[in-house]
Amino acid sequence: MENQRLLAFAEDVARNAGDILRRNFGRRQKIHFKGEIDLVTEIDKESENYIIGRIREVFPDHGILSEESPEQSSSSLYKWIVDPLDGTTNYAHGYPCFCVSICVERDGESVAGAVYDPMLDEMYTAAAGAGAFRNGRSICVSEVDKLRSALLATGFAYDVNVSTDSNFDYFKAFVFTGQAIRRDGSAALDLCYVASGRFDGFWELKLKAWDTAAGCLIVREAGGVVTRLDGGAYDLRQPDILASNGKIHAHMVEVLRGAKKQR
Ligand code: IPD
Ligand code: CA
Ligand code: CA
Repeated sequence: MENQRLLAFAEDVARNAGDILRRNFGRRQKIHFKGEIDLVTEIDKESENYIIGRIREVFPDHGILSEESPEQSSSSLYKWIVDPLDGTTNYAHGYPCFCVSICVERDGESVAGAVYDPMLDEMYTAAAGAGAFRNGRSICVSEVDKLRSALLATGFAYDVNVSTDSNFDYFKAFVFTGQAIRRDGSAALDLCYVASGRFDGFWELKLKAWDTAAGCLIVREAGGVVTRLDGGAYDLRQPDILASNGKIHAHMVEVLRGAKKQR
């Protein structure tokens, strides 16, 4: 199926799901905890039900991997990868930084992705080979070529308070080598901010396919580079990711390697 048609559908569904999130933003949420600090709200489920319903209605034979439901596998070449609310902790605290992320793969390759931030009304989109866009305008990664001048972003996994394999060493290493670091709480938006030049680099250790699928396609289509932390090939099944404008990528890999050695 044509990528642009899939993209138009992903965009429409992401926008409507984002509207659900925005309409309910700031209301008291019923919260369920998946772990001590890992939560899921009623609105996660409402957004997800809407998205899955639309996909089922239009593409009944496609597979679906969505964060809050068991995977629906299929023999179709197509698979939708969905985060119905990326930035759940922010959402639950009334911090207006979250999004909906929807990507579709054909035969294991991402072909179209949409990430929608309903608070800023920013829609990031990309179709394979056709560039990346924000609200229909072409975007590209930044020109920053020195790590010292780079605004970086990262995140911490939900096991941060119990795991020995945490992000602290890397965080510290970039505090000393970058210009500044942000921890905004939505990996999908972090990737879109790399794609649009607001951030110059982003890394994180324990992400899932639904966090990164659409954002990765958008970064690559915006001219950026996505690898694992060691510079090796990244695919959506890998937990660690490094995305950048390309110009600072090798330096970021070097800093990450150095920080790992000292562990
Ligand atoms: C989380 C966010 C956060 C990242 C976490 C993710 P969720 O997703 O993307 O920025 O640091 O690792 O799990 O739970 O809000 O969908
Ligand atoms: Ca997520
Ligand atoms: Ca989520």
